[in-house]
Amino acid sequence: MEKLIVKGGTRLEGTVPVSGCKNAVLPIAVAAAILSDSVSVLHNVPNLTDVATLRAVLEELGATTKLKDTMLYIEPVNHIAYEAPYDLVRKMRASIYVLGPLVAKLGRAKVSFPGGCAIGPRPIDLHIQGLESLGAQVQVEKGYIFAQAERLVGTEMYLMGQHGPSVGATANVMMAATLAEGTTVIRGAAREPHISDLAQFLNAMGANIEGIGTSVLTIHGVKQLRGTEHNVISDDIEAGTFMVAAAITNGDVYVEGITPQQLPAVSEKLVEAGVELDWDDKGVRVTTPRQLKAVDVNTVPFPGFPTDMQAQMMGLLCLASGTSVITENVHTDRFIHAAELNRMGADLMLDGRKVVINGVSHLSGAPVMASDLRAGAVLVAAGMAAAGETVVSRVYHIDRGYEAIEKKLNSIGADIIRVNDDGEDL
Ligand code: UD1
Repeated sequence: MEKLIVKGGTRLEGTVPVSGCKNAVLPIAVAAAILSDSVSVLHNVPNLTDVATLRAVLEELGATTKLKDTMLYIEPVNHIAYEAPYDLVRKMRASIYVLGPLVAKLGRAKVSFPGGCAIGPRPIDLHIQGLESLGAQVQVEKGYIFAQAERLVGTEMYLMGQHGPSVGATANVMMAATLAEGTTVIRGAAREPHISDLAQFLNAMGANIEGIGTSVLTIHGVKQLRGTEHNVISDDIEAGTFMVAAAITNGDVYVEGITPQQLPAVSEKLVEAGVELDWDDKGVRVTTPRQLKAVDVNTVPFPGFPTDMQAQMMGLLCLASGTSVITENVHTDRFIHAAELNRMGADLMLDGRKVVINGVSHLSGAPVMASDLRAGAVLVAAGMAAAGETVVSRVYHIDRGYEAIEKKLNSIGADIIRVNDDGEDL
């Protein structure tokens, strides 16, 4: 297994480009491969292991995919298979995105039931409830979800769970509804920028979705969707991670390829903490001229503060003066990184779904372990700010969602090397 050795005490300076959004490209590629009748070409596709895993799922179903640099070519097949097996789905929960499109296109689907993960139980009841509302019969047996329907039929539904809207269920049901008979109204829909990007892609394929970017999506079913060309939106979370990395190293970094509309709450909280953000039409310059201040953060669905930035913000607040409280309302068990940050000298106390952060003057390098992809990112960021060397293991989590993280950070002044278990440079 590979590790990252992060030399601390570096200051980031320069321009770093943001790649395409992982959470947009996954459902978009599914729609292109299953719902469409002809070839699609996606641009600005990040080279991530999650994208490779999804391509394996789509190829297992019978599609042909080719990735060249940042361009992903997807050719659907007429005789697509309807089963997504355990061995593939267990590698990536987002494989559940094939469920709705398969039922809509083929009238049946057999998809392995995704398990829990390091950030909590992550149920899929809303995905199932939404498809049942469209008339699918859904059963769970022997670890698989079986869904079938002669043709899905549009309806009105409220798709909200106890923690608010669901990104995954909104995407799954919206994709299915594009080919349903009649009109579907999804109330309580997720509003994340990647959901809007998916909806825009579906409309370019010939779907008829109204209310994009709002919590009420109206989807008028069509008979057929065709392939199209699409530029995937940039990754808000990668951009936010670079903004935190700039701030935690007292750097001066231009994060290129992001708009303030994609990251409203993160921008607001960084400014509240004392980080200076200077936006223009291509990106944002991040500088941190003074001591950071403590702030309280509540994670909530978009446009609130994203759970996927919680770990990185926690790392930053470790070095702010005063006491901050982070409350995690989306993935309520998502705190494994807190214990790793404490190993680096942070003063964090876990209390249910809250973490109390007493700011410290410095962190010190230590061997630490990435437990999920964002937890991995904060350890790299904290490692850059810490005194001495931090060795981050289980880097495969980071590679799921960050393209060439050490190359991008080294290009703006970090000192990070990737080694294998034998300590050889890679
Ligand atoms: C997506 C993102 C993930 C992000 C999350 C929240 C992808 C591939 N992943 O995950 O990075 O952290 O959105 O922004 O896009 N819930 C239910 N029942 C369901 C589905 C969800 O109760 O059927 C709950 C979840 O447990 C969680 C909340 O709803 O508490 C939000 O989850 P959801 O938005 O569905 O997250 P994902 O789509 O899995």
